[in-house]
Amino acid sequence: MTPRTTDWWRHAAIYQVYPRSFADGNGDGIGDLAGVRSRLDYLQRLGIEALWFSPWYLTPMADAGYDVTDFRQIDPRFGTLAEAEALIREAHERSIRVIVDVVPNHVSHEHEWFLKALASPPGSPERELFWFRDGRGENGELPPNEWQSIFGGPAWTRVPDGQWYLHLFAPEQPDLNWRLPAVRSEYEDVLRFWFDRGVDGIRVDSAAMCSKDPALPDYDHSVLPDPHPYVDLDENHDIYRGWRAVADSYPEPRALIGEVWLADSARFARYLRADELHAAFNFEFLGCSWDAAALRACIDQTLADHADVGAPSTWVLSNHDVTRHVTRYGRPDTSTAAGIRQYNPVVDEDLGRRRARATALLTMALPGAVYIYQGEELGLPEVEDIPADRRDDPIYHRTGGTDPGRDGCRVPLPWSGHQEPYGFSPDGAAARPWLPQPASWAHLSVAAQESDPASMLHFYREALSLRAGHPALGDGPMQWLQAPDGVLAFTRGTDFTCVMNLSGTPVALPEHRTVLLSSHPLNGTRLEAEASAWLHTT
Ligand code: GLC
Ligand code: CA
Repeated sequence: MTPRTTDWWRHAAIYQVYPRSFADGNGDGIGDLAGVRSRLDYLQRLGIEALWFSPWYLTPMADAGYDVTDFRQIDPRFGTLAEAEALIREAHERSIRVIVDVVPNHVSHEHEWFLKALASPPGSPERELFWFRDGRGENGELPPNEWQSIFGGPAWTRVPDGQWYLHLFAPEQPDLNWRLPAVRSEYEDVLRFWFDRGVDGIRVDSAAMCSKDPALPDYDHSVLPDPHPYVDLDENHDIYRGWRAVADSYPEPRALIGEVWLADSARFARYLRADELHAAFNFEFLGCSWDAAALRACIDQTLADHADVGAPSTWVLSNHDVTRHVTRYGRPDTSTAAGIRQYNPVVDEDLGRRRARATALLTMALPGAVYIYQGEELGLPEVEDIPADRRDDPIYHRTGGTDPGRDGCRVPLPWSGHQEPYGFSPDGAAARPWLPQPASWAHLSVAAQESDPASMLHFYREALSLRAGHPALGDGPMQWLQAPDGVLAFTRGTDFTCVMNLSGTPVALPEHRTVLLSSHPLNGTRLEAEASAWLHTT
């Protein structure tokens, strides 16, 4: 069966699978493709229209698979290429599109190219594929510049012959030199490799960082330099024009979805011009505080920027890099985006979940596509108390734990049962899940939520089903309605209204309406505080 429209990326509900933590088919404590295939019915029932898979390629797992040794091989921990092909086919049979993750900024230090570069002398063409430089200081003992890794520590590592190589992330992730045609053609080939296997879209990792100023100039780290030596260089746009040509060369065009993490929304929108990426994640919205005026301003800015380039907006609340939003919204102070990744000593999980439900209805009603990170449909919180010796994220280790890192949002999903592994691994599995699951998660498992009609899982299913069935939702216009302070209200089409109450007190709902769905039981004819409702209005 062919999925329903060709411009699905403009409106779809897209579910992010983090394969390592979704479901473990063979009992080694690590999620895998067999696990995903055994849960496709669950995903179909949830009502999502596309799946985005975080990397499943051959990797030493120095950064959870974002360090790729070979884009054309599946890591044996996850399965085989034949299994990936079967998974793509089985998803399509259920009208579910498939997006794979491609990482252009860097490869693994075990990638063939990097091994050859290490074996070749300074100045060789093999080293040109990366950023090798001599060090500063009398004996080259100082890194070539002061750039810092995004994961903490210096962005340079020295090799035995004395040269240094650049890695904006971990040392196991050497940055590629995108000025070389060989790099470009290799990646375009990788895109074709997956498109030829039926993949419908590509998620482009760290998309705004690939190009570097070849002078590798130092800069003052206390201010945002303009121009920046490696963020958002104009050369990036040529790369994605090339990728777009590859995507458009298929009879049914494929979508490119960028991780473009830029504060300047106008610069962000330039990646979404008609001959570049189709869409990009809306991190401004993800980082927005839980406040009506701030959310409205962010929504308006988003819609205006996207309208300029004709691209669809996206709405994202969580992913594998940030603190889960139940926890973010459950903090007493939700006023700053800085909370995207930090320790959260005081969290009111019930409040966080209530707000998460309200915000889910907002995002699913806004124009564009919506992204759901695995486990958000279960209302999972961030796991904050993972022991240091079980932590895996290089961010935690490279910052000496001052940054909690991202393990807390990557804990394996609870499917059933009352204790670890909660059905994540088969009964009697030899190994524990690769990250410990909290003792308190029994009530959050899929099985537990199946039997509770008030659960987050039922709520997500209902919202997604209404969204998919309503012609005015997804892509298209919206209109704000007059509303009291702290309340957001807008219409889609002629008969759909979404109201979100962030005001702290119940508010009256409009007259002449029937309630399609509310995130919290209504209070007579009023919408409770910290709640949203979808209305059929006439
Ligand atoms: C992106 C990924 C993140 C990864 C980084 C380096 O931000 O989402 O998980 O660590 O790129 O590849
Ligand atoms: Ca496994």
